Amino acid sequence: MSTRQHLLIDTDPGVDDALALLMAYAQPQVTVAALTIAAGNVGLAATTRNALKLLEVIGADTPVFAGAGLPLVRPAMDAAFVHGEDGFGNIGYTPAQRLPDAEPAALAMLRLSHELAGELTFVMLGPLTNLALALSLDPSLPTRVKRLVIMGGAVTGCGNVQRIPVEFNIGFDPEAAHIVCSRWPRFDLIDWEATMAHGVDFARVEHWLANPHPHAAFYRAISRKTRDWMRATRHASHWHAADALAMAVALAPENAETWAERPLAVELDGSLSRGATIVDWWQRSGAPANARILQSYRLPAFERLLQMALGVAAAE
Ligand code: BDR
Ligand code: CA
Repeated sequence: MSTRQHLLIDTDPGVDDALALLMAYAQPQVTVAALTIAAGNVGLAATTRNALKLLEVIGADTPVFAGAGLPLVRPAMDAAFVHGEDGFGNIGYTPAQRLPDAEPAALAMLRLSHELAGELTFVMLGPLTNLALALSLDPSLPTRVKRLVIMGGAVTGCGNVQRIPVEFNIGFDPEAAHIVCSRWPRFDLIDWEATMAHGVDFARVEHWLANPHPHAAFYRAISRKTRDWMRATRHASHWHAADALAMAVALAPENAETWAERPLAVELDGSLSRGATIVDWWQRSGAPANARILQSYRLPAFERLLQMALGVAAAE
């Protein structure tokens, strides 16, 4: 992790988004070129407000570009029951002074892809609406992006929304996910099942959260409701943070132990499966392997990035 990394992070904060953002800002070799904001966990006004607040807590002046407020085709349910109605655990924080930049997210993505051609890693932590819009406007976008990392999907059908095989980010806007997955030649995917396979001991996380560092204190406050929900619904001995795992893969891909490279498509029609990520595991379709799907990541390396995010460990 020694060479400079330039990230564009598309996010719908969101409690686990916030942790992922703290992870990126804790790495001295990382420059975050922009945050582009999606609707998802809660509505766009709230996710934008949360992103600005988090940047204020961090003390970063990264530009923030708000994106689409709705999925491309059909309205979708949010995840306020996990993250709180305001997306940040309803702690009643004082809003940040700063407002978002005027440029729409999709246009900012395209502009920055020219300004930092070949250097930017796009890290997608929410529904793929903004990226689908950018890609529709300019199909050559992937040629200027170094790497695309997506948190989304449930590659063997164990999702986390009411439609059993579907994961939230893809299920929120399946058409957007279809556009991205069918037109982006190659991306890294960190799915819900990988998230569940990389749980961190709950007591350990709560110990880190007790750290007086201001980032830990803010995260402790906004994550309280989500942690209570996890305990109540999953009887969790382990704590799972999808966006944080995706960020670990973006920041330190060398700690991924195994990947599966397979063709992946998004189901748009099924009454039980709209939004499912369909993987051609046996490679019978002849389609190109567009997805590099995370199978395992070194847990100590993930934990170290989390500790740095919460100020428990210093960056080397
Ligand atoms: C994804 O859905 C959201 O609720 C989380 O922020 C994460 O991006 C997990 O399925
Ligand atoms: Ca998210």
